[in-house]
Amino acid sequence: MTRHFTTIAEVSDPELARIYQLALGPFDDQTLAGQGVALVFERPSLRTRASSSSAVSELGGFSTFFSDEEIGLDTRESAEDIGRTLAQMYAICAARIRHHEVFERVRVATQDHMSLINLLSDVAHPTQAVADVLTLAEHFAGGDVRGLAGLKVAYVGDATNVTRSLAVALRRLGVEVRVGAPAGYQLTPGTLEDPITVSGGALRLTDSAVDAVTGVDAVYTDAWVSMGFEEETARRRRDLADFRVTAELMGHAAPSAVLLHCLPAHRGDEITDEVLDSPASLVWRQVFHRRSAMRGVLRWIKEEI
Ligand code: CP
Ligand code: NVA
Repeated sequence: MTRHFTTIAEVSDPELARIYQLALGPFDDQTLAGQGVALVFERPSLRTRASSSSAVSELGGFSTFFSDEEIGLDTRESAEDIGRTLAQMYAICAARIRHHEVFERVRVATQDHMSLINLLSDVAHPTQAVADVLTLAEHFAGGDVRGLAGLKVAYVGDATNVTRSLAVALRRLGVEVRVGAPAGYQLTPGTLEDPITVSGGALRLTDSAVDAVTGVDAVYTDAWVSMGFEEETARRRRDLADFRVTAELMGHAAPSAVLLHCLPAHRGDEITDEVLDSPASLVWRQVFHRRSAMRGVLRWIKEEI
């Protein structure tokens, strides 16, 4: 059966364990020898484009990049017809899209003939979550994701697509997750990537940043203004001002606590230079593991093609 990777929630525990395992395999193999992967980006990207094109190349394949200016998803042509076209040329399409439901439309239109990988949608950022798990496992558990059970991780700020995939992945590994966010920016149930209904590590939602981070092993934050929300910038800066990750806030976490951020960082908004550039910051290991994560996901998909 064709495999897709559009949320963490849709992948079973054994499948996720396999992805983590495959991510850490040797760099160069011929999993994708001579095969193309379509990379579709409806929004800007640095890390995701770099890690996906590098990983495809490391596995012996080649990637073709399509920006929205070129292909006009649902403007120049319907998402279904774009999917049908790509499926004639590629077995795998990795896409960063505005509206998550496009994955389902393309999946139906292509009758599961092309594997889909979510490179960030309004709902989820699952390849980022794989990289985040690998980063935490490297730091706290000698690389073994099973060793993360019992860890405490706090997310502070706007509870985003990144937050949802992260929280689903961590809870399923037995990690206690806390999310500190003001009203209107907190996790809500019912999305396709829903950390609230996951069983595993405890989940605590709080409207206090200090409450969220007290005693935790890791603090995570993401942009206050995600792509597509630029018109709300002034309001978001006001609403989220008490949720900035500062050295003072990090002082409430465990003394050995680490700092995570998916990047790009908005220095002075959700995080200060002092914290982002501190020895506690694992952000560059997260970037490194974006490529590991892509190798894991691509190898896992190819196990079934
Ligand atoms: N973290 C992340 O997805 O970065 P880019 O938006 O630069 O790809
Ligand atoms: N929440 C951010 C993540 C960027 C990697 C966004 O959606 O823009």
